[in-house]
Amino acid sequence: MIKFNSEKNIFTVETPNTALILQPDKDGRLRVLHYGKKISNPEEVFYILPTVDKYISSSEKRPLRAEFPTREKAYYAEPCTEAVFSDGAREVQLKYKSYIISKTDNGEKLEIVLEDRNYPFCVKLNYVIYDNIDLIDKNAEFCNTGDESIKLTRMKSGTLLPEWNRDFRLMTYAGSWGAEYKKQITQINQGRFCLENTRGTAGSHQNIPFFALDCGDADETKGNVWFGLFQYSGDFRIDFQKEFTGQLTVSAGVNDYDCDITLGKGESYVSPVFTTGFSANGYERMSETLYDYQYDVLLPQSKIKEIFPIIYNTWYPYEFDVDEEKCLGFIEKAKKIGAELFVIDDGWFGRRESDTLDGLGDWYCHKEKFPNGLRPISDKAHSLGMKFGLWVEPEMINIKSDLYKEHPEWVLENPKIERTQIRNQSILNLAREDVCEFIWETCDRIISEFNLDYLKWDMNAYFTEIGSNDGAFRIRYIENLYKIWDRINKKYPHVLLENCASGGGRADYGLGKYSDRVNRSDNSDPVDVLKLHEGFSTIFLPRLAGGAGNVATNPHHLNGRNTPLKYRAILGMTGSMSVGINILKSDEKELEEITSYIADFKKIRHITQNAYLYRLSSAFENNYTVWEYLARDRKNAVVFIFASGMNYRELVPFVKLRGLDKGKAYRVYGENEANPDSFRVVHGDALMDFGLYITPRGDYYAHKIRIEEV
Ligand code: DGJ
Repeated sequence: MIKFNSEKNIFTVETPNTALILQPDKDGRLRVLHYGKKISNPEEVFYILPTVDKYISSSEKRPLRAEFPTREKAYYAEPCTEAVFSDGAREVQLKYKSYIISKTDNGEKLEIVLEDRNYPFCVKLNYVIYDNIDLIDKNAEFCNTGDESIKLTRMKSGTLLPEWNRDFRLMTYAGSWGAEYKKQITQINQGRFCLENTRGTAGSHQNIPFFALDCGDADETKGNVWFGLFQYSGDFRIDFQKEFTGQLTVSAGVNDYDCDITLGKGESYVSPVFTTGFSANGYERMSETLYDYQYDVLLPQSKIKEIFPIIYNTWYPYEFDVDEEKCLGFIEKAKKIGAELFVIDDGWFGRRESDTLDGLGDWYCHKEKFPNGLRPISDKAHSLGMKFGLWVEPEMINIKSDLYKEHPEWVLENPKIERTQIRNQSILNLAREDVCEFIWETCDRIISEFNLDYLKWDMNAYFTEIGSNDGAFRIRYIENLYKIWDRINKKYPHVLLENCASGGGRADYGLGKYSDRVNRSDNSDPVDVLKLHEGFSTIFLPRLAGGAGNVATNPHHLNGRNTPLKYRAILGMTGSMSVGINILKSDEKELEEITSYIADFKKIRHITQNAYLYRLSSAFENNYTVWEYLARDRKNAVVFIFASGMNYRELVPFVKLRGLDKGKAYRVYGENEANPDSFRVVHGDALMDFGLYITPRGDYYAHKIRIEEV
């Protein structure tokens, strides 16, 4: 609920368990009185604060606890907005002007207008809340209300101010290609820590635009956690600045690196969303809140309740070497093992033989590999009751392509500088409207011509030389990317879209919003996947966990590690399953085994795909990993256990389940591994307070236990 107390001039943005309390002070500066646990009488916070403020500000003439700081008075910290006005001046000084509270389809919205004290410029701050979700979505609209141009040089979406004067522990996920989501813990002291991307097209290989802060005392189920996600795939910047006053201000927005926006008369810029949240019950509650948000609000709602089909993808078995004969053979076998969606990955188009030469940009069938086009393959899949999907990388171009001959001006390059090509490819200037239209038309044509049920949109290069472009080019590139995905979703509400960027390069809520599946990583080695998946699923619903082959090849191509099929297959059940082994070369035994695992998965995926994932034993901390997947109705659960590299005769502590009803009885299937269909009936309190006894044995141990309310 959003309230305004006109007597005390206090805004309260309340979600079921949290509150953001804001107040324009007597000089019209919008300040944060509180963000955290809901407080029954928000006004009382205001009575306490002036005394504290007096103490910490002493003789400083500076705004305290600013919700949207600018370079005003003696304020030296990170501002949320900066601009250059027509007279060359740079002082943005904002004053509270007005507000609007309105209802939305699924919640409420508050708009607070801040007006510049001296120039025709205003910033509208938006706060959106959703029924039953403990999150606030913030963003800002920067408006030129005068006749002269204004150059916006900083355009952050908003801030999060946790409790005053505490020492904070910051959790983020950082890494690189094939090693995404490494948990990183940083102590925030006085000074600044910055999480950012400057690569243009994608940032999540290096830094996910996500953070969680606690005072060093939170764990999975206890303690205060403040968290945030910036919904953007391009250049972002999240600053954590702790001032001498003891206040930590987190500000998030589009990065001002190589970027500014000129606002002409009457023009405005609307920034991406900064999602902010607070949990008083540790990290698990944070993840639950993020799952609810994705399930109820963020993800394409036309598909979220459907079971995601099991994929057979050609990438790991054949890479670029796909052709009609192989694909027709694959479909038959894929159907037999129980796969439901056949995907032709890279290599089907133009003159594409490898990633070194040609093809990108020419989105028509490779004449030698597919002389009859793709329709016979699509028809065959459909006639067998399977879905059919295709890989594309439409933002990219090879210099040898026909498209380059036709439109050299569409490529991002500087003719005076030698091209730096990542994966031997160049990038189309998607900030141009004609390029945006070309990419949309290409996707539209391909989806309808080949009768696609699924499209995997890949992206494998970052900006290098971008040549002559205006300051807002980086922003328009990403905005146009989202426009195309939005159009595809609207025109084809049942075509499944996989967001892939060299694995997990776009594992963010910006493109995530339009995606049904997100490539978690190009690393599918099962031992590494334990950590990759735990990092990924802390933020994303388990169903989104994608990739070309979650049931990996063996030995694994990245590190040569050998693991049993059972281990790989059970791990493949923890996300949305895709089979990466070469079933044309599998012997009968392997085919039988994979068929039975797929059949097994079909019995539990209605529980797991949109479940709450509880990290009962973390892959980051122990050599045995235990994840409980609790269905949204809280009546069914699956407990997954993986272990490798255990020492001695290590015994595992009892595994205490969470989120069940202590008074209810449950059937527990699969404790007896030799007879997985046998069950015992146990009450919730025994499962939660006493726990399950698990005994991982041997190397690469994998097991699952199903729990069902009686
Ligand atoms: C990178 C992706 O992450 C892989 O899944 C695969 O599609 C290749 N690109 C194809 O080039």
